[in-house]
Amino acid sequence: MLELNAVHAHYGKVHVLQGASLEVKSGEAVALLGRNGVGKTTALKTIMGLVPATGGEIVFDGRGLTDMPPHAIPRSGIGYVPQGRGIFPSLSVKENLEIGLTKAPPSQVFDYVYDRFPRLKERLRQPGGTLSGGEQQMLAIARCLVMQPSLLILDEPTEGIMPILVQDIRREIKAVNDAGVSILLVEQNIKTALRLCSRIYIMEKGTVVHEAAAEDLKEDKETLHRYLGVAV
Ligand SMILES: Nc1ncnc2c1ncn2[C@@H]1O[C@H](COP(=O)(O)OP(=O)(O)OP(=O)(O)O)[C@@H](O)[C@H]1O
Ligand SMILES: [Mg+2]
Repeated sequence: MLELNAVHAHYGKVHVLQGASLEVKSGEAVALLGRNGVGKTTALKTIMGLVPATGGEIVFDGRGLTDMPPHAIPRSGIGYVPQGRGIFPSLSVKENLEIGLTKAPPSQVFDYVYDRFPRLKERLRQPGGTLSGGEQQMLAIARCLVMQPSLLILDEPTEGIMPILVQDIRREIKAVNDAGVSILLVEQNIKTALRLCSRIYIMEKGTVVHEAAAEDLKEDKETLHRYLGVAV
């Protein structure tokens, strides 16, 4: 469904993505892991057209994304929850939910989202910026869901969130995937990645250097230590 083939990206002269390749198949949940600064966020921004690809190709559902204008990419079925959430602080929760819509979705779509996120339903008129960090993360996810994506891309959705809400967010991402939406997840929290995803890519210096099934990576202490610096 999504394929990156040897994708390159630059910030000015700095060559950040250096031929990154990965694939998300229909219905799959896949994680992209790697240390700070290796290019994970840049890879996601390049998929979304927010950073131009300077080489390689990105294909989604048979269509090339690199020539598509950035505003068309979410409408093609990709939801993007950026690192730091990217909600509009002075707009209400309801306005934040509606901001990406070009036409009103069926009312069941909002019912579904309010069922999944009752905390948001209770706060529809509250300015987005006054929500707690965890609630803002839920709003950022909910804002994508009302657009009914077929692929949801999340950049560190549990970053800076208290452990009790991490469980909630993990559960919601799992529910979205169980409903048939494919997931591409960037995470520092390796436990979250291993629980939610069946396949894992590891990135180093702008390229994907390792691919494994989650259940194999769990046992592969050497790889975890070498690329991620973690002991599990
Ligand atoms: N707008 C920018 N201009 C110049 N350099 C940038 C810009 N954004 C990111 N970079 C650089 O590109 C490299 C990759 O950054 P990126 O944000 O993709 O890393 P990351 O893997 O997401 O890291 P983290 O885990 O800390 O979020 C870093 O060296 C960063 O300093
Ligand atoms: Mg990042």
